[in-house]
Amino acid sequence: MITRDEALDLVQKNVSNKNLIKHMLAAEAVMRRLARHFGEDEELWGLSGLLHDLDYDRTANDFPKHGIVTEKMLEGKNVPEPVVYAIKSHPGHFPRKSRLDQALYAADPVTGLIVAAALMHPTKKIRNVNVEFIERRFDEKRFAAGANREQIRSCEAMGVPLRDFIGLSLEGMQSIDAELGL
Ligand SMILES: [Fe+2]
Repeated sequence: MITRDEALDLVQKNVSNKNLIKHMLAAEAVMRRLARHFGEDEELWGLSGLLHDLDYDRTANDFPKHGIVTEKMLEGKNVPEPVVYAIKSHPGHFPRKSRLDQALYAADPVTGLIVAAALMHPTKKIRNVNVEFIERRFDEKRFAAGANREQIRSCEAMGVPLRDFIGLSLEGMQSIDAELGL
């Protein structure tokens, strides 16, 4: 299996936008935390978060190819098939078949919600944000408008209530606050 360092190297070589790299690191941290919660493979789940937007520079203007191009980019790179499929299905073009697929689908938008909450906090520090702070803004459409609420709420398909999902995701991102600059 590809190592975490090799995966990060691929990200840094292919993704030009520094904020997007931070988003991918955030998704990795959320996926690792979720894997721990479920007793799943943390390395495998982390990889899917870290690599999920690898093709963004090539598909930003071609959304139907988002994820599919990543599959091609990962060929021969020793990335386990479940990770490749989770990435391919995360934009919603393919059915979500496993818990990994479902987790990545919900983890992707929750990172944006949490970043927005951290920036809105008087201290601008993610460590000072709590679940209640985020929950209060969940239904405000203009708050983190890009973070698809239905997609986040799909965590319930894994049997995880929204509040718990936000809590786990927050914990994951808080564990890498320095890397995220939050
Ligand atoms: Fe993403």
